[in-house]
Amino acid sequence: MDAPHLSVRPLSAGDIPHIVRYWTEMSAADLARLGVDAKKVPSAAALRSQLHALVDAPPQDAKASYLVWLVDGRAVGFNSLKRIVFGVRGDMHLHMWDGGLRGKGFGGTLFCLAALEFFERFRLKEIVCEPSRGNPAPNEMLRRVGFRLIGTRVGASSDLSLVTDLNTFAIERDVAHAYLRRATPGPL
Ligand SMILES: CC(C)(COP(=O)(O)OP(=O)(O)OC[C@H]1O[C@@H](n2cnc3c(N)ncnc32)[C@H](O)[C@@H]1OP(=O)(O)O)[C@@H](O)C(=O)NCCC(=O)NCCS
Repeated sequence: MDAPHLSVRPLSAGDIPHIVRYWTEMSAADLARLGVDAKKVPSAAALRSQLHALVDAPPQDAKASYLVWLVDGRAVGFNSLKRIVFGVRGDMHLHMWDGGLRGKGFGGTLFCLAALEFFERFRLKEIVCEPSRGNPAPNEMLRRVGFRLIGTRVGASSDLSLVTDLNTFAIERDVAHAYLRRATPGPL
């Protein structure tokens, strides 16, 4: 069987119910593993309106942005970019809402495609990704791609997060390109 086709695209209105369900139906154990503060997760209605406001937002004004992960054209997860300073920096977050596709090695390629797109769209010089140290999946995935662990700190990685022990990975363009070349033989 052919390897599935992996791609990313901007957020569209049809993705919003998946993302709302992902956050509002997450178990207490999963919230804890991700370092999310249940009290900070907005209501479904508030999330819906926040996400609708991001669809087609011009990059210069955006404080957050989403790219949706596609496996064979089907939306299965997303990267968000938060704390965006246009022309300077942003923080990347990663979530595959389709639990049945986790652990199959798709996240690395999807994350790298999204990172390159965020660098371009927001003219960024720096991206970091800061998973909780107690959450193995993103740490394993980021390490496997080859992103450098540049530090650890105690902090909140996003507006939804608890203060936890975080690993800080530098998301670098050349590392993402090199991984995509390894993962996707042939011209990119
Ligand atoms: C983090 C995430 C996006 C990584 O994407 P992915 O496609 O699952 O990444 P990989 O397939 O490379 O798997 C990475 C690690 O996830 C772990 N994993 C997570 N879910 C798994 C599952 N259902 N089955 C098997 N392994 C799983 C494995 O430890 C794997 O490492 P290994 O292959 O060295 O054993 C995805 O696992 C996810 O959405 N997890 C839940 C949400 C989350 O933790 N987000 C991160 C917030 S910072």
